[in-house]
Amino acid sequence: MTFAIGIIGAGVMGADHARIFAEEVPGIVLQAICDADQGRARKVADDTGARNVVGDPPALIDDSAVDAVVIAAPDQFHAPLTLACIAAGKPVLCEKPLSQQTKECLAVLEAEEKRGKRLVQIGFMRRFDPSYAEIKAMLDRGDLGRALMFHCFHRNVAPAYDFRAEMAICNSAPHEFDVARWMLDSDYKSISVFRPPNGGETAPVFMVLETLGGHLVNIEVNISATYGYDVRGELVGEKGTAFLRAPVHADVNLGLKQINAYPADWRPRFVDAYRQQNRAWVKSVLTGKPNPGASAWDGYCATAVAEAGVEALKTGKTVPVQQIAKPKFYS
Ligand SMILES: NC(=O)c1ccc[n+]([C@@H]2O[C@H](COP(=O)([O-])OP(=O)(O)OC[C@H]3O[C@@H](n4cnc5c(N)ncnc54)[C@H](O)[C@@H]3O)[C@@H](O)[C@H]2O)c1
Repeated sequence: MTFAIGIIGAGVMGADHARIFAEEVPGIVLQAICDADQGRARKVADDTGARNVVGDPPALIDDSAVDAVVIAAPDQFHAPLTLACIAAGKPVLCEKPLSQQTKECLAVLEAEEKRGKRLVQIGFMRRFDPSYAEIKAMLDRGDLGRALMFHCFHRNVAPAYDFRAEMAICNSAPHEFDVARWMLDSDYKSISVFRPPNGGETAPVFMVLETLGGHLVNIEVNISATYGYDVRGELVGEKGTAFLRAPVHADVNLGLKQINAYPADWRPRFVDAYRQQNRAWVKSVLTGKPNPGASAWDGYCATAVAEAGVEALKTGKTVPVQQIAKPKFYS
């Protein structure tokens, strides 16, 4: 039996998803690639052996030959396209964030619950990254004692989409909001946002969050870090701490120096996470069994924090994170 996937958005992420499904997920057929830029869709289809190129997302979603959909178009299309997938009864792996607005996330929650079936997974792939997963397993076993704090750093060479601080909070930080919430198993209580006053318009954004479980989480998002793509983290527990480790396959000594190379973007750092995520998604769709991936509810929670973060940035105040009660459907 084959499982046919359609991908909407053939940019950096869409091309990478297509490559992963074509090369690294057995039993998959890439049925269609859709992009507003048909030349880009054609190139990805040629590179990966996808069967069709489609110009219009609804044509892909409604194609009876497509069993499931990956959304890798820009953020503003995520919620409307996810709603269209739910309406068509098709499982969807939607890139993060589900939306930059909670009201759109709530519409997705409502539609999914009305449909009566969990169809949505959000691409918060860090849950599948071996370093985060190992620290979570240590915490869950009690090895580190009670979790107290999580320090997170998220650095890009240059802004991928937009240099505004709001974008760092709404587009980049949701990865940290989600993975820290998942790691600590607690929702957030409040968020404060700071920026170094001497940093100009691309200054890093520094967030301090309190969880309902009493943990502190601090997040530096620096989308103009220049030196490399670098994601770090340290979980501080009562008995010890654990650092995330990026994949390192060789220690290089050269020219009287030891050299640590950084990737230019997120793909090499999270290559394993994307692979594991996509495999787990397909397996869940085929077996009906859940995986550690993020649900539409988790997507909503990340956006609720981001919205509070934008308000904290604007007002300079500590802002409470407001969430609706978790619907039973997502328990
Ligand atoms: N999970 C991660 O680690 C991760 C990393 C980077 C980006 N992302 C997310 O992935 C999404 C895509 O990011 P990207 O870096 O690939 O962007 P990109 O700009 O490289 O690609 C987006 C593509 O979507 C196409 N497009 C635009 N509007 C469209 C529409 N209405 N229908 C079909 N195609 C459309 C564009 O032509 C472009 O080819 C973003 O939402 C981003 O937040 C996730």
